[in-house]
Amino acid sequence: MCGIVGYTGPREAYPIILKGLKRLEYRGYDSSGVALLHDGKLDVYKKKGKVAELEESLTGKNLHANIGIGHTRWATHGEPSDRNSHPHTSASGRLSIIHNGIIENYAPLKKELISKGYSFTSDTDTEVLLNFIEDIQINNDCSLEEAVRIALKRITGAYCILLLDEQDPETIIAARKGSPLVIGIGKGEHFLASDASPIIEYTKEVVYVNDYELAIVRPNELILKNLGNEKITPFITKLDMEMAAIEKGGYDHFMLKEIYEQPSTIQDCLRGRLNIESGTITMAGIDDHIEQIKNADRIMIVACGTSWHAGLVAEYIIEELCRIPVEVEYASEFRYRNPIVNKGDVIIAISQSGETADTLVALEKAKENGAFIFGVVNAVGSSIARISHAGAYTHAGHEIGVASTKAFTGQLAVLMMMALRIAIQKGTITKERYQQLLVELADVPEKVDAILKNAAHIKSIALKYKDARDFLFLGRGYNFPIALEGALKLKEISYIHAEGYPAAEMKHGPIALVDENLPVVFIATKDSYHEKIVSNMQEIKARKGKIISIITEGDEISPTLSDDVIFIPPADELIAPIISVIPLQLLSYFTGIAKGVDVDKPRNLAKSVTVE
Ligand code: AGP
Ligand code: GLU
Repeated sequence: MCGIVGYTGPREAYPIILKGLKRLEYRGYDSSGVALLHDGKLDVYKKKGKVAELEESLTGKNLHANIGIGHTRWATHGEPSDRNSHPHTSASGRLSIIHNGIIENYAPLKKELISKGYSFTSDTDTEVLLNFIEDIQINNDCSLEEAVRIALKRITGAYCILLLDEQDPETIIAARKGSPLVIGIGKGEHFLASDASPIIEYTKEVVYVNDYELAIVRPNELILKNLGNEKITPFITKLDMEMAAIEKGGYDHFMLKEIYEQPSTIQDCLRGRLNIESGTITMAGIDDHIEQIKNADRIMIVACGTSWHAGLVAEYIIEELCRIPVEVEYASEFRYRNPIVNKGDVIIAISQSGETADTLVALEKAKENGAFIFGVVNAVGSSIARISHAGAYTHAGHEIGVASTKAFTGQLAVLMMMALRIAIQKGTITKERYQQLLVELADVPEKVDAILKNAAHIKSIALKYKDARDFLFLGRGYNFPIALEGALKLKEISYIHAEGYPAAEMKHGPIALVDENLPVVFIATKDSYHEKIVSNMQEIKARKGKIISIITEGDEISPTLSDDVIFIPPADELIAPIISVIPLQLLSYFTGIAKGVDVDKPRNLAKSVTVE
């Protein structure tokens, strides 16, 4: 996954790179490093651990340079260690590289290079790519740019690379396939990064580099080429991101800030689309393709992790409201299992980052088979947004905490609007029900706000159960995916083992886990399944499990069965998931904090999973 930053221009490169790496740390934090080029000499500094550790190790050093590259790593090939950290230096010592991605055919290339006498100082695929490039440059006696082009044609896998050459004091060579790269255009300077967050304070003009493009970047020049050495005109985009979006704004953690932003991010998502007075939902992506979507024989949803959970909620809602069969697939399975995808099939891709490699490749495959791709994406201009035929942004703003929160509720809001828009067009919903759900959806921000005001109570529950070894999360119907999401959140940021299950399925296995030490979280809001889930609570209670229930205000029965209760405002059962997930986000946040976990950067994870 990794975050990469580069700078060439008149300013000091190191502070820009360091600040940029801190902003990109959400992408990986196994190690970090910088390469600075000054007076024809490359200085490389790297260190296992977070960027702050690199910074500390460099205090007092002379880091003066006007060109440099930096990397924060999420290890794929080789353990997190100083020697596997990027930048890597070529055998001759002349070139330096940083890389985001995986070189899949690195093993045969490494063998080939070893037979030629090369030796390696790391276990990474990246060092192999670098020496492969250098070997081509030496043998062909060509420019670095030419050598990169030849090398990239021979490798398989994904990459975004930045290269420095000791003998070229102003130039960064960059290239991408599958991993993102943004170039910021300043006055007599250029900034390169995995996303725009390291760039926005310097310039709002950026170029999103596409797959199979190579950039030659100098202070006063940006040349874009394809791998066939043809020049491409850079397409300059204006960033509409603000600095506030990437700062904590007084909160202790990005995750908490993002949880608290939800009343406004959900509002932003509905704004301009949902209109109660006129009884309309306007979504250009749907409106422009309404015939194809409403007449689809089936809809397939592909996503990973939390986004996959949003897909499961969408399955229930779309089938209920639109009467179109829906299949929800893990992108990583879909791409390899030879699925049946026909011309005209509608595929909904859900992704916060828009860069998830599994989802991206699954979509490319479906697109090749003629499917129509609809992207529900948060990151504007991201790869998934760009390869989709149509789409709807979730407008949740920049999400930095590794655990997805506001992007998830944004996804649910978009998917709900999509279902309503299709259903009214298709005639599978009555006018009255449609109008009722519009009003319910518009009320969500206020209800979320009410739950956030109850955070202190949720914190006290987190403190009470923080030492549990396992947790079970149970829900039925529309709240079943929320049980999965609650368990995933807790695992990610507290390292407590947790399982989500459909409440009724629990008796087919997980009930064996229940004893007086097991907290069981029931998402049991008032809906058509309510009586059934109350029976499931009885079953847990009879086996002495500890019950924490998330229930609707006014419910009098569930509290008598529960050890702890979190009341949430009443909502229609189709809307309930957007609301019932909020206490689960807070529960996992407070548990993670109580256990001393760095909740924004929990171990082994990265925000944007751009490797398979
Ligand atoms: C969410 O908390 C996770 N960190 C993770 O499961 C995430 O949802 C998944 O990697 C998918 O990411 P995407 O939405 O950016 O595609
Ligand atoms: N494959 C490279 C490594 O392990 C880069 C990893 C990445 O992009 O996450 O160092």
